[in-house]
Amino acid sequence: MRYFLITLLLITAAVVSVAGVRGALSRKPPLEVFPDMKRQPKLRPQKPSAFFADQRDSRLPVAGTVPVDALLSDSPAATGFVPGTTNYAAISPYPMTAEWLERGHQRFTIYCSPCHSAAGDGNGIITKYGLLKAGNFHDPRILKMPDGQLFNTITLGKNQMPSYAAQIPIPDRWAIIAYVRALERTRLGDLNDVPVENRAALR
Ligand code: HEC
Repeated sequence: MRYFLITLLLITAAVVSVAGVRGALSRKPPLEVFPDMKRQPKLRPQKPSAFFADQRDSRLPVAGTVPVDALLSDSPAATGFVPGTTNYAAISPYPMTAEWLERGHQRFTIYCSPCHSAAGDGNGIITKYGLLKAGNFHDPRILKMPDGQLFNTITLGKNQMPSYAAQIPIPDRWAIIAYVRALERTRLGDLNDVPVENRAALR
């Protein structure tokens, strides 16, 4: 203990003799261990600055700047609603093509199938871990939903289902909806969907 106290005293004396006591006056600049923390070459919001000609450090947006989603903002593609109403858009604004469906298939597998399953019946892998059954896309209630309503479910979530707005960009949401509609067709098809010349083979 005695050695400890003596060592402490010596260290204190050494530190004070190098760094000086608090409040001491000196012509030399104070010792700063991390000066970059104290003096940062940055602008603070709403403060004056000599750097710019107008003396303001907050800058205005460059002339002609447009918010990313402004071009889409009121269209059914961006909201899932008929413009100016609260009615869901009946069908997707994007044309259905093979590539579009393939994109939707891929995104569906990534984002929806863990809960809704690859077949869309709601028995995804989560149910094996004790989580609840997600919506069944073959349920008549969901079959009847307009595309815009599915868009809003993906965008905002629904009860236990979280919002996917942050993960899935707007066009991909519509591609997923196209694929969900195709999935639903897999259980709605009847003989009339088969080309006439192939029907005999099925009977
Ligand atoms: C984390 C699990 C999970 C994921 C991932 C998920 N869902 Fe869901 N989804 C649910 C659950 C749970 C419900 C049932 C919500 C309820 O209680 O009505 C649901 C319901 C739905 C419904 C029916 C909504 C209604 O009004 O009844 C639709 C449509 C739907 N999901 C679409 C999707 C699509 C499309 C994706 C992929 C982008 C997706 N879900 C991803 C869990 C999920």
